[in-house]
Amino acid sequence: MREKLEQIRAKAIAEIEKSEGLSRLNDVRVAFLGKKGELTAVLKSMKDVKPEERPLVGQMVNETRAHIEGLLEETKARMEAAERELKLKKEVIDVTLPAKKNRVGHRHPNTIALEEVERIFIGMGYEVVEGPEVEYDYYNFEALNIPANHPAKDEQDTFYINDKIVLRTQTSPVQVRVMEQGKLPIRMIAPGRVFRSDEVDATHSPSFHQIEGLVIDKNITFADLKGTLAEFARELFGEDTKVKFRPHHFPFTEPSAEVDVSCFKCGGSGCRFCKGSGWIEILGCGMVHPRVLKMSGIDPEEYTGFAFGAGLERIALLKYEIDDMRLLYENDDRFLQQF
Ligand code: DAH
Repeated sequence: MREKLEQIRAKAIAEIEKSEGLSRLNDVRVAFLGKKGELTAVLKSMKDVKPEERPLVGQMVNETRAHIEGLLEETKARMEAAERELKLKKEVIDVTLPAKKNRVGHRHPNTIALEEVERIFIGMGYEVVEGPEVEYDYYNFEALNIPANHPAKDEQDTFYINDKIVLRTQTSPVQVRVMEQGKLPIRMIAPGRVFRSDEVDATHSPSFHQIEGLVIDKNITFADLKGTLAEFARELFGEDTKVKFRPHHFPFTEPSAEVDVSCFKCGGSGCRFCKGSGWIEILGCGMVHPRVLKMSGIDPEEYTGFAFGAGLERIALLKYEIDDMRLLYENDDRFLQQF
């Protein structure tokens, strides 16, 4: 028995010395001291030992176990220390190296312009609402009194998903969605992305943004529309800004107008910025067509209203004197940081 134990001890010592790494060391522990380990097997065979020899043999087994355990502990501690050492070496921080810069982004000119427009209209009691970018043909065209043969409906101008669904070409369908809800009066703006099948150039993009406006109440007149947009222009472009309404045509408003603001660069005397005219076009507007009100369930004998639609990029380009719309989509940090 003594010999057997000596053998086990010698084997264990050899295995411990050979083992590289903590997981190998644990395998050795299991192989010798585990439930099915070699030393445990010896303990289990004690019943075959003569009773008078049992205390002695027991003591020998315990000594062997203690020895192996001690060696395992020692080796484990050594390995752990070495590992820690290695890790610390790897994690050395060179405080003389330049620090990582935490680069903070910048709000996009579109966002800055939109927040400004929202601030102005919220100040006048408007709500900001949103509508879907993928829209039914009905909302985008039909309910806005845009007839089937209208050029805006041409495949050259509109991205069709199928014959009933389109990528909205304007934010005007949000007017219809809000009117349909039947809560009156309405005072809202609806900013959002729109899509048209346009080639990219300095003033065009297949995807851009509009801000729609809609007011419906009793006794709303063209004078309210004029006053509202004049106030908007003054807040956005400066106290001295004047507005000019030019007759125009939109299917969903009657009468309709396009609105120019006096050039905030030259004050109206004419410069390169306003192409010598003293005026800059900023939006389309009009009194909501009775047919549009009726289609959305509003009685045009009882309620009237006005609507307007402006291009967000156009406002941003004007306000920040950017001469190429493509700059707004490139997201070059050096450009964006300027606003
Ligand atoms: N939806 C028009 C467009 O995209 C802009 C517009 C004009 C909106 C007149 C309006 C409006 O609400 O009354 O060209």
